Amino acid sequence: MELGVNIDHIATLRNARGEDFPSPVYAAFIVLETGASNVTCHLREDRRHIRDNDVRIISELTKRLNLEMSADEEIVKIALDIMPRSVTIVPEKRKELTTEGGLDVAADIKRYKGITDEFKFKSADSIISAFIEADLKQVEAAGEAGFNFIEIHTGRYAGETTEAGRAKELARIKGAVEYALKIGLNVNAGHGLNYKNIYDIALIEGFVEFNIGFSIISKAVFNGLETAVKEMLGIIKTAEFAKFQQTKK
Ligand code: PXP
Repeated sequence: MELGVNIDHIATLRNARGEDFPSPVYAAFIVLETGASNVTCHLREDRRHIRDNDVRIISELTKRLNLEMSADEEIVKIALDIMPRSVTIVPEKRKELTTEGGLDVAADIKRYKGITDEFKFKSADSIISAFIEADLKQVEAAGEAGFNFIEIHTGRYAGETTEAGRAKELARIKGAVEYALKIGLNVNAGHGLNYKNIYDIALIEGFVEFNIGFSIISKAVFNGLETAVKEMLGIIKTAEFAKFQQTKK
């Protein structure tokens, strides 16, 4: 089982001050060099975090980009131009804080088939994934629409607060994974996964990759804060010492 790390929130931080750091490109290299298999970025229609140039550079330099994107015509055009290692089609609403729910592939198989055909036409071994609920109807529709991967939305599982609720969700996810494998789809999972809830999901047989963002970037802030403060203090103390040496001359 592999890990794809979503680095959107590195870009959120960069954009907050209009600077060119922290750089999502640098983050992509750290993530990959540390052992993750892929780096995920969501190029949202409103470009609230990751921007066009980020995805172009990350895809070109790492060849390990999983581009999360809506089925919007403009975004599809950009993705077809960049041809990242993989694309994951997600539903997207302007005002949402993060992706809410899975894609309703069953509602418009023809439209999604048109998109998967375009990617396959450009490259026969395109990896095209549909982000869907653990719902057999959606799994089946994803297969009919020509996706070769699905990413099961684990948000509902992550939001469960009771043992019984979690067990029910895990069983639903397990059923969807089994059905997807039976009809020849590869299966990823993601959304809301964190250091507490990943273990039980990872016990389920059949997943290729987990896509995790918010919990990892949040953990990185606190894991790195001590080092960052120490480094800054070190420089200030060194300057203090240099001034002290000057006064002694
Ligand atoms: N997978 C998909 C399709 C997503 O939309 C997101 C959120 O951008 C993730 C995985 C990562 O979710 P989280 O940030 O909650 O780990």
